[in-house]
Amino acid sequence: MPLFYNALEAAAHRLSIVPPMFDYFGAMGLHALVAAARTGIFDALRERPSTGGELAAALNLEPHATGVLLRALAGLGYLRVSRGRYRLTRTARRWLTTGSPTSLLPGLAFWERTACVIWPGLEKAVRDGTPATPFYASLAADPELSRSFHAWTAAMAARQAPATARAVPVPRGARHVLDVGGGHGLFSLALLRRHPRLRATVIDLPDALETAASHPRLTPRAGSFLEDDLGTGYDVVLLFNIVHGLSDEEAALLLRRLAAALNPGGVLVVGDQFGDSRMPGRASRTLLRLLDLNYLVAVGGRVRGLEEVAGLLRAAGLHRIRHRRPLGSPTTELAVAWKPAHP
Ligand SMILES: C[S@@+](CC[C@H](N)C(=O)[O-])C[C@H]1O[C@@H](n2cnc3c(N)ncnc32)[C@H](O)[C@@H]1O
Repeated sequence: MPLFYNALEAAAHRLSIVPPMFDYFGAMGLHALVAAARTGIFDALRERPSTGGELAAALNLEPHATGVLLRALAGLGYLRVSRGRYRLTRTARRWLTTGSPTSLLPGLAFWERTACVIWPGLEKAVRDGTPATPFYASLAADPELSRSFHAWTAAMAARQAPATARAVPVPRGARHVLDVGGGHGLFSLALLRRHPRLRATVIDLPDALETAASHPRLTPRAGSFLEDDLGTGYDVVLLFNIVHGLSDEEAALLLRRLAAALNPGGVLVVGDQFGDSRMPGRASRTLLRLLDLNYLVAVGGRVRGLEEVAGLLRAAGLHRIRHRRPLGSPTTELAVAWKPAHP
């Protein structure tokens, strides 16, 4: 959880009385979280509130170090302590325990890799504009990392998919959805649950489909959305968290291909973060800027503004572009565009 300053701390920061160490400490917070997850602290506390000594004995940890870690985690907002016993906060229970449907634990290897291997390439990326690694090629070469990345995207989607499915307009009589780079398939799955006559095809790279959701009306298809035949006859196209990873040329090419694959009167929905969105405060605005930097260093992509995405959609021949911001989907907003019913 990010640290929120009180007024005194904020003033000390603004007046430069304290050195600007919060970002340095932010990296330490990530490692504290990973250590707690890997040693089983979050899962053990889900079972029962415990003292540091009880946890250390149950998990075979060093008691003093365990106590230091627990106090740091309480400060970060993951634990609460009362009369020496630690218990999980709602945040930790929902996102950091194994049994939770939105558990981020399987994605921690990917987070660590991002922080420790990919981000040190930022200086190079800023000097010459190239990402640290060809991201998806590095996933294909490292099955454990690939599983971790896709588990993390699935955890994020699991929380947001029902809200986005309610916001996706499905044309009357629609039959077939194409979920482009849909990986885990959870956005399609939520749509299928709302619309019993729909079926979906999820196209993604082979490693992404290994853990794809299973449903009788959902067909995973291995292939590249930039190079392989996409088929035709779709009524709904989902393009979720894809555009931010593409260059301008790739985005324009993909949108043209998708517009051609849509039936007249069909709908294409871009789900992504938009740089010109209204944000509730400075922290969320700054997180969006950091995400932009992350896309730059990791995949050579970027956060685009809604207007820019709308321009790309119009250039692909789509129209009636609308912005939707589903409640319950804090990190994926929608740009909805229609293919004209009559050419
Ligand atoms: C950021 S994830 C988004 C996954 C999902 N749509 C979501 O929003 O949670 C990007 C996905 O695009 C897939 N992908 C990247 N390049 C691709 C390509 N050329 N062809 C097909 N899929 C690709 C990745 O494997 C990954 O599953």
